[in-house]
Order: sequence, then structure tokens, then C-alpha cells
Amino acid sequence: MSQLNRGQTQPPKCGSVIRGASARTLEQTESPLSTNVTTNARHALPAEYYYSEEQYQAEKEAIWFEQWVYVGRAETVALPGQFRTVDIVGESILVTRNDAGELRAFYNVCSHRGSRLCEEPAGTTKEVFQCPYHAWCYNLNGDLVVTPRVGDGEVDRSVLGLKPVRVDEWQGFLFVNLTSGSPVPLRESIDRSSVEALTFERHEMDKLITVQSTETLVAANWKILVENYAECLHCPIVHPELVEIVPTFRTGSTSDSNRVDGGVLTTTGGTSYSPESKGRNAILPGMTEEQAHSIFGSRVFPNMWIDLAGSNVVVGRLVPEGPTQTRVLMDYLFLVEDIASDDFDPEPIVEFVELVNRQDYAVCERVQRGVTSRGFKHGVYPALDESVHGFNEHYRKVMASGA
Ligand code: FES
Ligand SMILES: [Fe+2]
Repeated sequence: MSQLNRGQTQPPKCGSVIRGASARTLEQTESPLSTNVTTNARHALPAEYYYSEEQYQAEKEAIWFEQWVYVGRAETVALPGQFRTVDIVGESILVTRNDAGELRAFYNVCSHRGSRLCEEPAGTTKEVFQCPYHAWCYNLNGDLVVTPRVGDGEVDRSVLGLKPVRVDEWQGFLFVNLTSGSPVPLRESIDRSSVEALTFERHEMDKLITVQSTETLVAANWKILVENYAECLHCPIVHPELVEIVPTFRTGSTSDSNRVDGGVLTTTGGTSYSPESKGRNAILPGMTEEQAHSIFGSRVFPNMWIDLAGSNVVVGRLVPEGPTQTRVLMDYLFLVEDIASDDFDPEPIVEFVELVNRQDYAVCERVQRGVTSRGFKHGVYPALDESVHGFNEHYRKVMASGA
């Protein structure tokens, strides 16, 4: 077993003795939350927002069917006819590229009698998408072009094409927007929801290639996963391996107050998360020497996070599957020149990040089990939960206005 695998760390059990920084962190934040009355801290979202079917339905309308939603990497639909079907809270969307190389997206439903058009998660079609029911065919622009055994003039093909959906690309990441209104442009939307993401543009993430992907169904509301990503108060307790290579995280903070670029130094001696990836020498464009040995994190509302290191990027995508379940899809991106080298081995990095992810999923599921308690009405925000507060405020604003 590698050093990285030594800790399938479990959260501390009730009554365990917690030493050092972990103990200090707990002492600083200890308050009788079950009463929610002895603290001046601001209130977090109401508990029922994390499990109520009604809130989930409201989020569909205000967030998932209204905002730009991250759906995966553009290189998965690089060529004409390549397609993917993606799920957005139960809506299946077909994303493809037409003969001119332009991105196209449609509701994945046939105009004849409503059959799901493509069931495959991904593939390549030569010229058309053919419905498996009565063989109506649509070209790569969504136009209805073949209707077998339907006589001339029986139906107006020109109005029966696939229903289009907005699709756009930022830094090699694909986003779709299901609103029937006029959304703000994608980049502006990213700018509104994330203070860091646009600063990553100088690292040319569109040049990266996905080398490995993972998928995990987590029994937790999607917001619990975002909130967990947003803070590091839990890091000294939940991630012993991570705080060993990122000392700043041992303080419970996600950033180093001595730096203005948002980066935190790693102690790996290399350019990624894993101590075993020391040999890597391909560095992302736009990195200083210090940045090449640092990691950076960013969230894009509602369902994306980006962890950027000197030589690679790890991207998370959240796909809600109901109020209390979320599928987490992770993509591990590397530089082409790195991939081409003989000793390229992404495994230590993937292993390390997945170890940290499993630790996160476990505590998120623990929160999901807790928030339904009659003894819990809402959380609170200590100072180091500022980013959680920022997410909640953005969420509240979007839910209130759809802005
Ligand atoms: S439902 Fe698609 S061709 Fe009939
Ligand atoms: Fe974590």
C-alpha cells in the first residue's frame, strides 16, 4: 500500500480524544447548535432546504432550469456527430457538434410522440439521430429530415425539429442553459458567482485533456457538498493526509493571508497534490515558480468546482438526483505534453484526491442524516465559514429573483 492509502480515515467518533489543531478548532467553534439561541453568529439556510421536496422543486425552476449549468468537458464532443446525453435534475439534454464544428444542444425527446431520442451516455452518429420508435431522423442541427411512412403534407417538418437549448463553452468546459428567457452571457454568469474562476483563465484550461474520471452517488443534498467544499474548518479533523501536504489547511482556512493570488503552498516538493508526483515538470501556462508548487480552488455556481495545481486540474460536477442524493463526477485533467511523457502516471494524484473525496462524502452524508433532526433548525457561520455564507447568499439571491 502506498503512503497515500494508509488512512481510510474515519471522522472522530463521539467521545474520542482529539489532539492538537483538531482539538483547538473544535474548541473555537463549540456552541450548543441544537438550541440555536446562544450565538450571535448569522444563521445558515433553514434545515428543510436540505431535504424538502418542495424546496427541491423550487430550485429546479429558479436554478437548474434558469442558470448556466456545467455539464462536462468540451473535448468529449470535439468532432461533428460526437454527442453526449447529460442529466439536469431529470431533464435529459443531448449535446453535440454540427458539421461546421459548432456546439448544439437539444432536449433529448422526439417530436413525434415524445420518445427519449438517445439513451446512450455518449457516442458518435454519422449524420442523423434516429428515433428508435418510428425512425424519425434529425440532423446535427436538430432539423427533422426523415419521417418514414408519413405522407407529403401530413406534418410540417420545419416546425418539428428538436427543441434547442443554449450551450456554450468556457475554458474547455461545457455549460447549458434551459431558460426560456434571455440569460446573462456565460462568462458574466461565472464572474457573478465566483471571485476566483476567471483568474484561472490565464492557465489556459482549454488546453488540458481528461485522463481519468470517477463517479460517486452521495447520499446528501447538493448544497451540503458545495458548502463542504467551500470551507476548510473541517480539514484538520477530516483530512489528516491533506493538511500534511497543505499546512495552511491545518489552520482551518482555505487561503494564505500572505498571498493575494489565493494559492496555498504544498509541501510535496512537486506540482500537484500527491507526494508521489514529484517528477512532473510540465507546468500550466501562466504559473510563477511559487504558484507551480501551490494549489488553488474555485467554485462556479451552482454545480462546479475547480482545483488547480501546478501541473493539473481536478474538476468536480454535481448532478442532483433528488433532494437527498447527488451524483459527483470528477475529471482529472493534464497537459498534453505531460500525458505524452513515458513516465506519465496520474494514479497517485487520482488516488490522493479520491481519498480526500471519500472523507468529504462521509461527512456530507453525516450532515444529511443530521439536518432532518427536530433538534436542528439551521446552522450558523463562524468567521472561517465566510465562503459558505457567500454561497448561501448567492443561493438566496438566485432563489428570490432568478438573477
Ligand atoms: S416517437 Fe420518435 S419516431 Fe415516433
Ligand atoms: Fe473536505
